[in-house]
Amino acid sequence: MLAGKHILLIVSGGIAAYKAIELIRLIQKAGGTAQAILTESATHFVSPLTVSAISGRPALTALFDLTRETEIGHIELSRSADLIVIAPATANLLAKMAAGQADDLASTCLLATDTDILAAPAMNVRMWQAASTRRNIETLKADGVRFVGPDEGEMACGEYGPGRLAEPATILAAIEDYFANQAAPQPLAGRKIIVTSGPTREPIDPVRYISNASSGKQGTAIAEALAARGAEVIFVTGPAESAAPKGCRIVAVDTALEMQRAVEDSLPADGAVFCAAVGDWRVVEPASDKIKKGEGQSPPELRLEANPDILKSVASLPGGQRPRLVVGFAAETGDLLNRARTKRTAKGCDWLLANDVSPGSGIFGGDDTAILFLSENGEEDWGALSKRAVAARLAEKITIALGD
Ligand code: C5P
Repeated sequence: MLAGKHILLIVSGGIAAYKAIELIRLIQKAGGTAQAILTESATHFVSPLTVSAISGRPALTALFDLTRETEIGHIELSRSADLIVIAPATANLLAKMAAGQADDLASTCLLATDTDILAAPAMNVRMWQAASTRRNIETLKADGVRFVGPDEGEMACGEYGPGRLAEPATILAAIEDYFANQAAPQPLAGRKIIVTSGPTREPIDPVRYISNASSGKQGTAIAEALAARGAEVIFVTGPAESAAPKGCRIVAVDTALEMQRAVEDSLPADGAVFCAAVGDWRVVEPASDKIKKGEGQSPPELRLEANPDILKSVASLPGGQRPRLVVGFAAETGDLLNRARTKRTAKGCDWLLANDVSPGSGIFGGDDTAILFLSENGEEDWGALSKRAVAARLAEKITIALGD
């Protein structure tokens, strides 16, 4: 979601300053980068060294950091970011912003910038309710500053009410919303892309089936990312728990054979992304009535036959019928690189995104994953990312590959 986005994160002093660490991690997991500025008082609550180590960039603390000033300077610093986030934003910093004061690096950057600002206030409930803070918030809102939180709850000082810093996950969601609501360019307009997703269900009898634990989260995220870039997306999905992606044509199927037919019916297409966890086998003759347990009877024996490999069959279509770009996924348990290389060749796809779904990885059904990206040009290790970040990164690559 935040792939390629750079956040200038201003941390002002307050007991919640340590939560900036978690926020930086979340920004990175979503594919973005963060440059932190700590106010003087923030350094009493969170160490610049920790923030530097987590963000992978020196946390900046003083206005007249001379090296930095000659290298880049506070004007550039504040303008090179895609968004400025203040978390936590103290009553003091908000007051300075409202008054246009600039007496340290944080307030100077905030005054010098033409980048949008998202503030997450955190302060004692009385300070939040104080007439002066109310006035400042109104002024800042009128100036275009966006806000997330504060939450209501018990304060560090023992009082109860609004003033707690919004949870880092909520701040991240507000950051993602900000970027999602920016007028998105539509570089994939006029391109048709098929995305398969979710598990398949192979019936045993009218009430029983063979399936798997695929949540459909990765496929949904990819479909949404492509649709957001203007592609016409045909989303062929098995019965998955995740909500249908926005802006796509949904084709719901149960079995692998139905999925194959739906994919074939959706051709021709410019691209196809095979994210579905297709069942490898189906029951040869599913019973038309519910199979009875029966006293003393031995359990039924299921005869299975192989399902068609949809990815492979589409990837091996003759030129003209084959989508220009065919992308597969591989879920492996161990020896990821070698298996992924073999699989890319065996399937005949252009790109393969491989992840290790060994027990305990939490990838199946989870929000996060770790991807090894294989193409004819070699391998890229994308490392640990959220599935939405994978989707954004893949959509960027598809945009380049299918561009004019
Ligand atoms: O062979 P394996 O199941 O590991 O391959 C995974 C890749 O192949 C995924 O992209 C999946 O969507 C696709 N696939 C398919 N049809 C099958 C099996 C897998 O499209 N029957």
